[in-house]
Amino acid sequence: MKRIGILISGRGSNMVALAEAVSAGRIPGAVIAVVISDQSSAAGLVRARELGLETLLIERRGRSRVEHDGEIAAALRAQEVELVCLAGYMRLLSPEFIEAFRGRILNIHPSLLPSFPGLEAQAQAIRHGVKFSGCTVHFVDETLDGGPVVAQAVVPVLDDDTPDTLAARILKEEHRLYAEAVALIVSGNYSVAGRRVSATAQEDKE
Ligand code: GRF
Repeated sequence: MKRIGILISGRGSNMVALAEAVSAGRIPGAVIAVVISDQSSAAGLVRARELGLETLLIERRGRSRVEHDGEIAAALRAQEVELVCLAGYMRLLSPEFIEAFRGRILNIHPSLLPSFPGLEAQAQAIRHGVKFSGCTVHFVDETLDGGPVVAQAVVPVLDDDTPDTLAARILKEEHRLYAEAVALIVSGNYSVAGRRVSATAQEDKE
């Protein structure tokens, strides 16, 4: 079983989507080991507990990023986590954390990267006037929303969209896409060549 750790800061709907996908057998071979929030007010923490998941609150409490990330890394190791999924985790991770879990951290972002990285991606898309946007699951490296792309989904941007209406359309795709991408990574049936992540033929697993 691949043990997944999910980091959240807020609502946690992608965390719930992953947990439901695991329960429904759509991410074979995976178990959610722990959900960690850096925010005590995160609604996702309550939802995770309701789902019977192990939860941890690890607040920054004025410490340096490296110290805070070190505590998170220690908690993930204690839970023998092999894959870290960021799901609305609103803090940048330190290079030390990224190095410790290199190639084993995924994030979901509400735009078609490399367009519109950073905050308020949906508002950025509307301001720019693009006709399509979407979401991206990518490996996390030291760049902001810049790691190798695992999967993307496209949605139209409508003339009367507000950031909220576009966000809702994208979020629906996020929930489906994140589970599919995590299933691919958990299966191990992928290869990475430079920045290119490709699905490979299914291996027969005992
Ligand atoms: C999502 O739009 C995700 O793409 C972005 O932050 C939002 C988190 O939403 N990184 P939720 O907490 O998963 O509901």
